[in-house]
Amino acid sequence: MNLIFLGPPGAGKGTHASKLSQQLSIPQISTGDMLRSALREQTTLGLEAKKFMDAGELVPDGVIIGMVKERLKAPDARKGYIFDGFPRTAAQAEALGAFAKIDVVLNLMVSDEVIIRRLSGRRVCPACNGTFHITFLKDEKVCPTCGAALIQRKDDEPETILNRLSVYRRQTEPLINYYQQQGLLRSVDGEGFVDDNYTAILTALDIK
Ligand code: AP5
Repeated sequence: MNLIFLGPPGAGKGTHASKLSQQLSIPQISTGDMLRSALREQTTLGLEAKKFMDAGELVPDGVIIGMVKERLKAPDARKGYIFDGFPRTAAQAEALGAFAKIDVVLNLMVSDEVIIRRLSGRRVCPACNGTFHITFLKDEKVCPTCGAALIQRKDDEPETILNRLSVYRRQTEPLINYYQQQGLLRSVDGEGFVDDNYTAILTALDIK
């Protein structure tokens, strides 16, 4: 199954794509994670992307499309994949249509108020890539999975969150209509508890 997880920043794309990736044994392809990993490795791509990411702006389409095309050549993508955070513009969606066949686009719906609360409390683990929320952490500085020190993403600072939301409305939200017209869209409520949202996602995807 080839899936796209669509939704505003903080909608839970990464959280749910990671669970589903394990359940279906297909890779989660997160362009955000790929860019952050390139940045950690100090590659030219990572260093170029940094200024866009830190400001909450989108990295140029050409860079992203080339990166995804390359990623799909890996053997683990043959059985299917879950795009998390891609495509994000009309140009990316059109380019994708030329080199991949998508089965379902899952749209997670979450209000701005909930997004701001989630992102400002998000902490991530640079060692195991886990994502957590301070509300559910005993110690907000320590990863409950591997014990490494948790960090706050630079783009989770309040002003940048607002800019990411506005970029989403302007450049990514129109894709809801784009995929609706192709008959691929399934929308799910992304508010509430993770387990309840995940159950709704499985139902929307007809996964038992
Ligand atoms: P990216 O990493 O893709 O960020 P994003 O889309 O802004 O998404 P997030 O990771 O912030 O949110 P999410 O929906 O995955 O939510 P999560 O599961 O973490 O992109 C970062 C940057 O990279 C972009 O701004 C851009 O610069 C660049 N980029 C990436 N892809 C690009 C592209 N295709 N084109 C151009 N540029 C690109 O959950 C959020 C928090 O909520 C967590 O703390 C979680 O624990 C918590 N939470 C609480 N309750 C729930 C619940 N019920 N469900 C889910 N999560 C919950």
